[in-house]
Amino acid sequence: MGEFVSVETDDHGVATVRIDRAPVNALSPQVFEELHTAARACADDTRIGAVVVWGGPKVFAAGADIKAMRDATFQEFYAQGGGLQESVAALARLPKPVIAAINGYALGGGMEVTLAADFRYAAEDARMGQPEILLGLIPGAGGTQRLPRLVGPARAKELVFGGGQVTAQEALAMGLVDRVFPADEVYERAVEAARRYAAGPYALRMAKQAIDEGLEMDLDSALRLESTLFAATFATEDRRIGFDSFLADGPGKATFRRN
Ligand code: CAA
Repeated sequence: MGEFVSVETDDHGVATVRIDRAPVNALSPQVFEELHTAARACADDTRIGAVVVWGGPKVFAAGADIKAMRDATFQEFYAQGGGLQESVAALARLPKPVIAAINGYALGGGMEVTLAADFRYAAEDARMGQPEILLGLIPGAGGTQRLPRLVGPARAKELVFGGGQVTAQEALAMGLVDRVFPADEVYERAVEAARRYAAGPYALRMAKQAIDEGLEMDLDSALRLESTLFAATFATEDRRIGFDSFLADGPGKATFRRN
């Protein structure tokens, strides 16, 4: 697909969005743009039921490309109006389950890409952090917002103010990652989990939307959103398949079509 970001879809409806820019997958403007394109392609392709984002076996991504940003100005970033955020947001808004499989470093913009996923599976040797402060910056691709929503404001501030790194086990303890696996297993385990989601019904989209959008609303509005989406599941073919399968064969046996 792109020069640095590829999308490959397996026979089970799982797309791997692979970042590949040696040596550390630094996220240049082109990489952010390609990530944006990849996220849109995954959203549009009806064969794709779930997505794994992976940086390969050595490193997830060491953040925005510091060399490319060296001479950037306030005016350039201000004019972009959150261009970095847009790529990450396209991933976060993907209406399908997304798992980040993290080997090695996920720092700065790299960690922010993982924060846009529904789940983070980390290798035992993974290291995560928001080191922007050490460069005189703050996170600019969602880190100051998604991180505190995930781990709470105090832990987020520790990471953002201090610029330090956490190990996979520390990340697990604070809820920053959801599972930890040996380094040579993490991608496969993410794909396995993604295959289970890809076999799920169309209602998975509604579940994701209800949780993600509902969290940004007051409770009454969020409950109304849930009611509407609950009703919407009755317009799907998969809802009929699920009910017929339960009544004929009991729970958990349905083969869904994702429509
Ligand atoms: N951008 C560009 N190049 C980078 C880079 C980055 N973010 N991180 C590392 N590199 C380069 C290094 O300059 C080095 O290049 P050369 O071989 O040409 O010298 C090469 O990758 C290997 O790096 P190291 O020699 O430093 O390797 P290491 O194993 O000792 O350390 C590391 C790896 C921990 C990732 C370390 O390089 C590091 O701390 N990198 C910077 C991480 C960082 O600050 N990220 C935040 C960027 S700002 C951001 O992301 C803003 C935002 O919110 C969008």
